[in-house]
Amino acid sequence: MKTILLAGGAGYIGSHTAVELLNAGYDVIIADNYSNSSPEAVRRVEEITGKTVKTYEVDIKDTEKLEKIFQENNIDAVIHFAGLKSVGESIEKPVLYYRNNIDTTLSLLECMEKFNVNNIIFSSSATVYGEENPVPYTEDMKRGTCTNPYGWTKVMMEQILEDTAKANKNLSVVLLRYFNPIGAHESGKIGEDPKGIPNNLMPYVSQVAVGKREKLTVFGRDYDTKDGTCTRDYIHVVDLAKGHVKAVEYIFEHKGTEIFNLGTGTPYSVTEIVETFEKVNSLKVNHVYGGRRQGDLPECFANADKALKVLGWKTEKTLDDMCRDSWRWQKNNPDGYNK
Ligand code: NAD
Ligand code: UD1
Repeated sequence: MKTILLAGGAGYIGSHTAVELLNAGYDVIIADNYSNSSPEAVRRVEEITGKTVKTYEVDIKDTEKLEKIFQENNIDAVIHFAGLKSVGESIEKPVLYYRNNIDTTLSLLECMEKFNVNNIIFSSSATVYGEENPVPYTEDMKRGTCTNPYGWTKVMMEQILEDTAKANKNLSVVLLRYFNPIGAHESGKIGEDPKGIPNNLMPYVSQVAVGKREKLTVFGRDYDTKDGTCTRDYIHVVDLAKGHVKAVEYIFEHKGTEIFNLGTGTPYSVTEIVETFEKVNSLKVNHVYGGRRQGDLPECFANADKALKVLGWKTEKTLDDMCRDSWRWQKNNPDGYNK
């Protein structure tokens, strides 16, 4: 049985990935400083799967403490989710973002080298395609120009990982470029739990529906898209988590760096999201149309062929599933994990 270390594994995507890895028979260790998550998420992962998860409360930047985890366990692969991810905050606090996101990556690579752990899967983002590349994005496109420090940290970390794999022929790196993860585990026990006012669309929609926010502002309806609002490639977080299981299976057979888009390949507009959420959950989401948000691209969606061809992975859930599951989580946990 292989042991997978999930750095930042108590977060939204990490907790869902932990469930899928445990269900597939892997041992899972979670290392997290809970800066944007809660130990309760891990408890619920255990509840869903009926399995135990070894946890470490640790700042991944702290190489000495991180080494202890590598000393105490036989780790076969690392999945690196640990990062700060708010675009707006990254513009206000660039040093915090560069320090946290880059240093966590460097500490992990240093420990991995010291303890001869040679497999790392990294949470990258569609944001690395930048402004220049045309949609749909394919993995062979050059990384583009980002509009914010968060995006640049992803570009830089991809480069760091690629360079390290070039220098160390034993190292295997898989860069997973996520599109827009939404939804929640169908049990309604784990989901996205943003602190403060949500930046992202689906948590905002859910919080309006549950009465925590008065109304959603749709950012711009004058884009050159099907209905004037921006389109995105929304992916159910459980499909995304299953993509990680496929990447783990793949990484043990592979050396060097490989990149995969994890998306559905189908774009939906903001208006379609609101309308679908209202339809499948039989409720109304109070919303108004406002001006554009700075830095938003009109369209963003994947060509997801490579993940199907190489990993044998494709998404299975529909937009209806995503909206239903997001709402179940929000309705059952109006205050997230803090109830
Ligand atoms: P999240 O904030 O829910 O999870 C990140 C986890 O990392 C949190 O539990 C946080 O406490 C932890 N963490 C952060 N810095 C740490 C540190 N120094 N030491 C230890 N733990 C630390 O975010 P998520 O949505 O689950 O995203 C996971 C990864 O995927 C992130 O790297 C994010 O940038 C990337 N990503 C997310 C999305 C998205 O839309 N959610 C899209 C593309 C990429
Ligand atoms: C954003 C980030 C991206 C990051 C991703 C996950 C920007 C420019 N991009 O992607 O780098 O990887 O989150 O954290 O911030 N919308 C509204 N009203 C709202 C919120 C969003 O209309 O209150 C619209 C946006 O204009 C966009 C769509 O909904 O068209 C999706 O927005 P969001 O969920 O923030 O994701 P992205 O902007 O695609």
